[in-house]
Amino acid sequence: MEEIRKYIDENRDRFLEELFDLIRIPSVSAKEENRGDMVKMAEHLKQSLLQAGADKAEVYPTDGHPILYGEKMIDPALPTVLVYGHYDVQPAEPFDLWESNPFEPVVRDGKIYARGADDDKGQLFMHVKAFEMMMRTGTLTCNVKFMVEGEEEIGSVNLGKFCSDHKNMLGADVILVSDTTMIASDIPSITAGLRGLSYMEVEVTGPNRDLHSGLYGGAVANPCNILTKMIASLTDEDNHIAIPGFYDDVIEASPEERREMAKRPYNEEDFKASIDIDAVMGEAGYTTHERLGIRPSLDVNGIWGGYTGEGAKTILPGKAYAKISMRLVPDQDNEKIAKLFEKHFKSIAPAGVRVTVKYLHGGQAYVSPIDTTEYLAAARAMETAFGKKPIPVRSGGSIPIISTFEKILGTKSILLGFGLDSDAIHSPNESYPLYNFYKGIETIPLFYRYYAEMKK
Ligand code: BES
Ligand code: MN
Ligand code: MN
Repeated sequence: MEEIRKYIDENRDRFLEELFDLIRIPSVSAKEENRGDMVKMAEHLKQSLLQAGADKAEVYPTDGHPILYGEKMIDPALPTVLVYGHYDVQPAEPFDLWESNPFEPVVRDGKIYARGADDDKGQLFMHVKAFEMMMRTGTLTCNVKFMVEGEEEIGSVNLGKFCSDHKNMLGADVILVSDTTMIASDIPSITAGLRGLSYMEVEVTGPNRDLHSGLYGGAVANPCNILTKMIASLTDEDNHIAIPGFYDDVIEASPEERREMAKRPYNEEDFKASIDIDAVMGEAGYTTHERLGIRPSLDVNGIWGGYTGEGAKTILPGKAYAKISMRLVPDQDNEKIAKLFEKHFKSIAPAGVRVTVKYLHGGQAYVSPIDTTEYLAAARAMETAFGKKPIPVRSGGSIPIISTFEKILGTKSILLGFGLDSDAIHSPNESYPLYNFYKGIETIPLFYRYYAEMKK
């Protein structure tokens, strides 16, 4: 412990400078213009791994963005930890809402401000530096493998195939992931579940062009009016999702589980204040954390159509669109839900419009057992580093590839996240507290130590 802290203290500034170098590469997976940056990023990380002490590191091209794989095998008899993370980030737009350049990291009030500061460059890099620390101090107790992708934010489109193609290479006892949150910097928690996702795009087409809304309005179906009505009907007055069959596979939490969940520290007034709302809203009969962690949800992510420019233009639009996502819980299947959605959405379209529905991407929910050696080692590491037992928490977010790992590789993941809700991931002014960054680097080697010990 002292040794770890000492190494971190002596290398604090360098760790930060190196993270900043990663952040300065704008690896936005969604954008064609950043294709070159994705390669640059993977190559840069490869060098980081080699410099930290990996025996080998290789960048694998895919049909999309490259995947980085690296490893340090010390003894086949020891347990193997596979670290997963992603080097891609969400687009930084809208730029004008950033207080500083999203790709020029700065520290303000003890936090790193930049796109990817938390999600996931900051959190991924803690693993690279923890690995470096264990190599330099001769304290590595497990074999280590790194798998870092550049497509997490666009649905991990090529990682499933990479896993099936390299099953042996990726063989491990546990997958270790820091890409989630903890309750607060002084309230450690471990993510024991993630929601799944089905992401849809719908298009409603009416007349063959935008029409004069005086000459046609009131006599012709308006795609914007229709689309908003259709969307409104997807949830009922209890905020239940009204798609037939939607809840068929939802596993209801037991009263004990719900009692356990209710024990986590949570203040609804603080929650509301943190996002400036005067009331929460969700499915009747459930608390906020149940709504987030164990119940599915449906959200419009964006909706457009017709005239949205300056001033007024009197038209009846020819088309309207929306992007609609559904967060899923065990045992809902993302593809089955996508089909139910499509069937239902088409069935509620009135005469006078045509509807197309596209499934963009998705994945299954994930549940992590909390009685395994892997979980207990992680919990012990957290407890040593933070001085408090971590609380297992079901998160509302999704990392769809985690359930795919289990299916293809047969390996369970530990979601050891150090982010905070207030880090504003995906939003302008994303940040990551320096405290959490260094605390993560301190916690990770403890996991390796305890895991090797407990696994014997
Ligand atoms: N790291 C997040 C997921 C996350 C954040 C989970 C905080 C739990 C707590 C990840 O990068 C992410 O943004 N996932 C997407 C899904 C993906 C398919 C675009 C999400 O949850 O929207
Ligand atoms: Mn992430
Ligand atoms: Mn993300």
